Amino acid sequence: MEKVEFLKSVPIFSELKDDTLAQLSRSGSVQSFSKESIILSEKEAGSALFIIISGKVKISRISTEDDDREVILSILNPSDFFGEMSLLDGLERSATCTAMEDSKILIIQRNDFLKLLEDHPEVSIALLQELTQRLRAAGMKIKALSLKDAEGKVASVLLQLADDIGKIKHGVVEIEKLPFQHELANMAGTSRETISRTLHAFAKKGLVELEGSKLRIVDYEKFKELYGL
Ligand code: CMP
Repeated sequence: MEKVEFLKSVPIFSELKDDTLAQLSRSGSVQSFSKESIILSEKEAGSALFIIISGKVKISRISTEDDDREVILSILNPSDFFGEMSLLDGLERSATCTAMEDSKILIIQRNDFLKLLEDHPEVSIALLQELTQRLRAAGMKIKALSLKDAEGKVASVLLQLADDIGKIKHGVVEIEKLPFQHELANMAGTSRETISRTLHAFAKKGLVELEGSKLRIVDYEKFKELYGL
């Protein structure tokens, strides 16, 4: 896909005219990252904005108090952006961002992005809307991690994935490629064994169907009623 076409598909830029998108695409550079490579690291300095053209990016933090356990904050997909926090507040990177697949990323430098925000308030508003959604998701995550029981923790990760990468059809949500169990464990703040046991318990109750790396939430509304926060 051509750079301008791609930028048009990015929700925060969807209102921009072609000439502005063309200018933005000229100022950005494209970089490829192979699977598992670190795109940016927690605590380093940085000021660029990253937009995923293709691939998948894991946003995580390492909890040093807990055997260097990784906590996955989010998994981002094409057209999603990251790196806006350091760009905006000038502080160190708040999390580590790792390519989960071979990924292509568009990198926009701070000054170019700030100029865009100044000239196009609609981009600023769209950015604020996206950040508000992330704040809501982070609030849900805090609540989910503080839950005592495994079912609640695992269910809230499934609800987060349904929101991020699920496809809904006739009340059924299908998650085509469920993250690996150790990744689900890091998202839920629990162990891989608990993930396995709880997913099978959900399947036994008829709440989900598992088929290879595919997971279906059989009745999404009911599942939300049971486990939504
Ligand atoms: P920055 O702090 O510059 O670098 C790490 C990036 O990870 C950060 O900007 C955000 O883009 C992203 N990030 C940090 N915390 C979260 C979160 N809770 N949910 C989604 N993305 C996040």
